[in-house]
Amino acid sequence: MIKAVKGFRDILPQEMPLWRKVEEEARRLFEAFGYSELRIPVLEKTELFKRSLGDTSDIVEKEMYTFRDKGGESVTMRPEATASMARAYLEHALYHSDPVGKYFFFGPMFRHERPQAGRLRQFHQLNVEAFGYVSPSLDTEVISLLDTLYERLGIRHLTTLEINSLGCRECRPRFRESLVEFLERVKDLLCPDCQRRRERNPLRVLDCKEESCQEVLRDAPHISRHLCQDCRQYQKETLAYLDALGVEYLTNPRLVRGLDYYTRTVFELTTTHLGAQNAVAAGGRYDDLLKQIGDKDIPGVGFAVGVERTVLLLEKKGDWTRGTPFHCYLALLGEEAIKEGFKLALALRKKGVRLEMNHQPKSLKAQLRRADKIKAPLAIILGEDELARGTLIVRNMKEGSQEERPLGDLEGLARYIKKEVEF
Ligand code: HAM
Repeated sequence: MIKAVKGFRDILPQEMPLWRKVEEEARRLFEAFGYSELRIPVLEKTELFKRSLGDTSDIVEKEMYTFRDKGGESVTMRPEATASMARAYLEHALYHSDPVGKYFFFGPMFRHERPQAGRLRQFHQLNVEAFGYVSPSLDTEVISLLDTLYERLGIRHLTTLEINSLGCRECRPRFRESLVEFLERVKDLLCPDCQRRRERNPLRVLDCKEESCQEVLRDAPHISRHLCQDCRQYQKETLAYLDALGVEYLTNPRLVRGLDYYTRTVFELTTTHLGAQNAVAAGGRYDDLLKQIGDKDIPGVGFAVGVERTVLLLEKKGDWTRGTPFHCYLALLGEEAIKEGFKLALALRKKGVRLEMNHQPKSLKAQLRRADKIKAPLAIILGEDELARGTLIVRNMKEGSQEERPLGDLEGLARYIKKEVEF
């Protein structure tokens, strides 16, 4: 038996209703907020991620699926979508047609992490990115979109929205310097991972989950004290807009994010309901990213929702519906009825009736047992006798009542089914 690759999982039909719920709610809301769909490829040049996510980020250092293709080029299966969406935006000069570009994308991402509950090597994200201008009200709109999505899914109360500002190219270096000084003083107390991070990417130390490190970091300098006047004002206005909208959040001065491209606003939607995996969605502003990729000074802000984790939260809430329901089952008896039945099935399916039909020579009793099994509320019975009379029988499976109807009246039949099963 050949099994799936570790960390790559199948999404089974019984799981799909919750996936569909997340995707359909997201699509509806993203479009309501003015985002258009943009689809990006799975493979990108490795250089794209190295340049944008940062050489010392965990993703670039150890998690990318990178290989040489047959032409010898180093390519990477996208570990996230922001860099690719920015690349697509620049490559097709979408900024020419409209200075503000708002795009969304759903799809799988690939990171070679240690798999566990809620952490996979192929996982799915819903991404939104708004390119084009710097404005606290745009950041607020993006954050409120995330807030609304979880509210609509009925799981916002299981999450906390954490916000921070990481400053800009002016003030962040000053903060970094003071953090490096602090870490130098406490270096012997840090975990081995942080010892390494201290030199390569000191901001990431703040994000360490080790309790011993958290204890030491209690006295670490806060970025909020190092923000320049503009960044301070920007954060103040963003929070004021969020307050005005009634979006609940917590400011967390320790929130740093694992990717290097962020400037100013960063946020995470966290939960305590999924064990070690506490972030269900995350994002922020990245005003220098497009310059690094394509030398265009275009700012951006966005977020990504982790679909697996969101579905796990919906399951926790007990939100579990069964698979696509059938509207009716078509029971056919005899060669001629099967031929005629096929045409009927196709015509009804074209009208949106969810219909299952019999494909094996079985007795009427066996066919009705199958209709029961798939929980079809109606069964249509067509045998030689009905065919000879130019009729068919519609059976209400719950009540056991039957009605004979003309075979030729397709419109009437479709209307009748829709009325009976209310779809
Ligand atoms: P990220 O924090 O790396 O951000 O990922 C966003 C979300 O994807 C996480 O909060 C989590 O729910 C989900 N996720 C990440 N890794 C895994 C995994 N191995 N298994 C399951 N779920 C996972 C980004 O990717 C940024 N591009 C977000 C962004 C968009 N920033 C601005 N625009």
